[in-house]
Amino acid sequence: TRISIAIDGPASSGKSTVAKIIANELNYIYTDTGAMYRAVTYLAIKHHIAFSDETELVDLINKNPISFEQMADGQHVFVAGQDVTSDIRQPDVTRAVSEVAAHSKVREALVAIQKKIGEDGGVVMDGRDIGTAVLPKAEVKIFLVASVSERAQRRHKENLEKNIPTDLEELTKEIQARDEYDSTRKVSPLKQAEDAIRIDTTGKTIQEVVQAIKEVIQQ
Ligand code: C5P
Repeated sequence: TRISIAIDGPASSGKSTVAKIIANELNYIYTDTGAMYRAVTYLAIKHHIAFSDETELVDLINKNPISFEQMADGQHVFVAGQDVTSDIRQPDVTRAVSEVAAHSKVREALVAIQKKIGEDGGVVMDGRDIGTAVLPKAEVKIFLVASVSERAQRRHKENLEKNIPTDLEELTKEIQARDEYDSTRKVSPLKQAEDAIRIDTTGKTIQEVVQAIKEVIQQ
């Protein structure tokens, strides 16, 4: 049987890296839900919509379908046919995404799409509310955490590899601010599901974390 695997946790805790590996090994669909909130934020910037304007943000979602496509160099994100894979990682999007993601109607619209993707199982989905709201019945729920300094260093390294301007101190502040915003919003705040397995990835290699998750899957 093809199960559902929910991987949640704070910013840069390694969710997408391990989720991709596990999806690949199991031949499951990988869904990066953060990329969807980022895509909406990118659209808001592009169309000069205020991050506080819930109605207009939902309108953007309805008019610009978000899709994922598997390509030679990994998964790409598209909105209304435009490849936004690198645009959605830019600092202006990262700074605003939590405000956009805090609107209940924005979440409703994206969660409906995510539930649909996950309805038949065979999916590894990562985000903040997958185990609590999107796939509450997921057979496997993982909550990944790591120290703030390790997470900032990881993102710093990633940014350098992708040629994105980066500053360690700024990243540390941005990660802390985003975690704070995501954990204190009213709708589906970042929170470990009661039945999730918590894994602290501080000081662990990617392979060690993948191994730990596989052990949970095999139980
Ligand atoms: O995972 P990533 O860091 O790309 O997510 C970007 C932002 O999108 C998060 O900081 C959070 O505000 C929002 N998000 C969310 N729910 C999800 C995934 C992401 O609110 N399931």
